[in-house]
Amino acid sequence: MNHQQVQDQIDQALRQRQADNLLRQRRIIDPIDQVRVRLGDQELINFSSNDYLGLAHHRRLATVIAKASRSGCGSGAAGLISGYTSAHAQAEAAVARWKQTERAILLPSGYQANLAAIQTFTAIGQLGGGVRFLADKLIHASLIDAIQTSGQPYRIFPHNQFPKLERLLSQADPNQLQVVVTESIFSMDGDAADLPGLAQLKGRYAFQLLLDEAHASGVWGENGCGYADEIGYGNLADVSIVTCSKGMGLIGGAICASERFCAMLCQAGRAYIYSTSIPPHLCGAVEAALEIMRDDPQRRVRVRRHASMVRKGLRGSGLSVLGEDESPIIPIVVGSEQNALEAAQKLQQQGLLVAAVRPPTVAVNASRLRITVTSAHRRSQIAQLVSALRNLQSGAVSAKKD
Ligand SMILES: Cc1ncc(COP(=O)(O)O)c(C=O)c1O
Repeated sequence: MNHQQVQDQIDQALRQRQADNLLRQRRIIDPIDQVRVRLGDQELINFSSNDYLGLAHHRRLATVIAKASRSGCGSGAAGLISGYTSAHAQAEAAVARWKQTERAILLPSGYQANLAAIQTFTAIGQLGGGVRFLADKLIHASLIDAIQTSGQPYRIFPHNQFPKLERLLSQADPNQLQVVVTESIFSMDGDAADLPGLAQLKGRYAFQLLLDEAHASGVWGENGCGYADEIGYGNLADVSIVTCSKGMGLIGGAICASERFCAMLCQAGRAYIYSTSIPPHLCGAVEAALEIMRDDPQRRVRVRRHASMVRKGLRGSGLSVLGEDESPIIPIVVGSEQNALEAAQKLQQQGLLVAAVRPPTVAVNASRLRITVTSAHRRSQIAQLVSALRNLQSGAVSAKKD
């Protein structure tokens, strides 16, 4: 295929996506402050950011980063070469203390953290009778990619329903490592994993639990250490994934696990081994973000109150609102891709930036508005959102009862 043919094929694929309302496009959205952004000549209130605690613009984090960058902006190499500094060791120790695990390892993104964790489990499986991943249907794309590229066997169980999972566990080859993979707060549905149900299964069957706490970190648990801790299951997961990109307002991810798992990760977690480590100044910012979470619990209180206010405000509206009452991820299922795009457009006309999430991120006919609230929103902005959602013309949102 020559160059022109490749370009033509791409053109055709993009045109098809456009026709199907599935084309993904970046838009330039510049932050004005913690919650306001500029899109073209419009100023919008951002209801589509995962900066749940409003830390992305926190002056203390900016100061830490500015000060620490004076001694270098990049780490220069992967952690196993020369990119592991005392700043990394210190930040990892702080994350491990916060998550109450023996160790934590920081990576450049949550995506890579999930990849490295699955690669490590794969290597552990190869020491014995292999590994099989048992994954909740709604796990994040990073986990799906990690599992699929591992080349290891895997099975999917229906979201938060365990009869199939139990059957798989009960019939498992005892020599094969079973790894259950789920999220504590699901990224697209905003609901919580049934951790008590998983705890019961753990009492009966041998498996490792990989729990992605990306969206719960900062919002739930002691000092924001996660949803599992909040509901008394802080010790349930064998490996917890944290992202620094959401509640911490930064970038990066962390694998929190036993000393031995982390040692194995340094042997087999290719996503860690073959990638330059995060810059040292980010390590200082991670520590500072954890301190803010500890010292300013009101941020957690506020974001959860805002989530609850939105859900309460939408009760009886006929909109299909998913998720835990206090979950800052507030999905409103509208059905088709077109419905989602039109609804988001209508909200934008009213000064609100809300993401329209379409397949393949969510199932066909389950396109949705994915609204996120943060502690930095003002009550008046929450009220504005609720009233705009209630006023969405019934044609734009094919109302499903909640
Ligand atoms: C559940 C979950 N895990 C992992 C990630 C990846 O995190 P990051 O954006 O830090 O790469 C995301 C990102 O959206 C996520 O939602």
